[in-house]
Amino acid sequence: MTQGIDTLRQQFESDLAAARSSREVEAVRVKYLGTKGSITLLTKGADFAAMPPAEKKAFGKAFNELRAFAEERVAAAKGAADAAEQRDKSRNLIDLTLPGTERTIGSIHPVAGVQMFLEDIFRGMGFMVETGFEVESEYFNFDALNIPSDHPARDMQDTFWLTNGELLRTHTSASQVRALRQYGAPIRAIFPGRCFRYESMDASHETSFHQCEGLMVDKDVSVATLIAVMQTFLNCVFERELGVRLRPGYFPFVEPGFELDLQCVICGGTGCRVCKQSGWLELVPCGLVHPRVLAAGGVDPDVYSGFAFGLGLTRLAMMKYSIPDIRLFHSGDLRFYEQFPAVF
Ligand code: DAH
Repeated sequence: MTQGIDTLRQQFESDLAAARSSREVEAVRVKYLGTKGSITLLTKGADFAAMPPAEKKAFGKAFNELRAFAEERVAAAKGAADAAEQRDKSRNLIDLTLPGTERTIGSIHPVAGVQMFLEDIFRGMGFMVETGFEVESEYFNFDALNIPSDHPARDMQDTFWLTNGELLRTHTSASQVRALRQYGAPIRAIFPGRCFRYESMDASHETSFHQCEGLMVDKDVSVATLIAVMQTFLNCVFERELGVRLRPGYFPFVEPGFELDLQCVICGGTGCRVCKQSGWLELVPCGLVHPRVLAAGGVDPDVYSGFAFGLGLTRLAMMKYSIPDIRLFHSGDLRFYEQFPAVF
């Protein structure tokens, strides 16, 4: 009897080995393990009553083993056939004549690029980089900078007020007194970041734009220090020696205050359309830090002096890349962004 089982096992194995697809494997399963399969029928054909107990036991054991063996092999063969068919299917799905999926690399936003560039230059001159807060208190944005609530200078910088009384900073100068309080003097720092103004938009005005504030406080800092630092920085930006000049300018947090002009980068000073024939470009408002601002920062104005400047990062990017409209920066228009490099 068990000899019949061995023969059946061999038949089953050779049938299964010949099965090439999951459908053929299924046919082998039905042939041997189905309700009318030859393995299933083995027990039906046996005359157990006539069998001596030892033989019955041996038969039962051999039968169970064969059935378990066959089930296991069918399952494995089915798994392998399914996987192979899946592979074939997906292989056929690839059309090698189609163009590949292009991987696009983003580009760096022009303002971010100019900011990174400035950070490098100023770090090289020993300045640290701090970003400050976009949401500020009225105190640091105005009062600490010598702009009390009844001061007309407040009208020039209308902003967005939050319901808790805080505001969106109108300029990065708001970080000056915070930094003086945190680090004390001497200090050299720049504060690049986003600022906000409540105003109507046109080609040169946005409700959100970037500035880079600079602050240097030490013993014996003078207008000469200010000019030297600004000139070094501008030579790096424009990669040549350009003249600068100071004109008087009024900002409540500096005394004296200046507008620093740069020799026109287009005509070199002879006069052109860009500089409106003047030979100069208005570039950076700046000045010597007002004693009241130093005092608000906990720094003794009789011991220390300093300069500050407020560079328009967005404006600098517009100059560097000849961008005609400030609204392009936040337009979300990929045709604009794609024109800038991925690496600065
Ligand atoms: N905070 C000024 C503004 O946004 C710019 C400015 C002027 C900054 C003079 C300064 C400065 O640090 O000294 O209009």
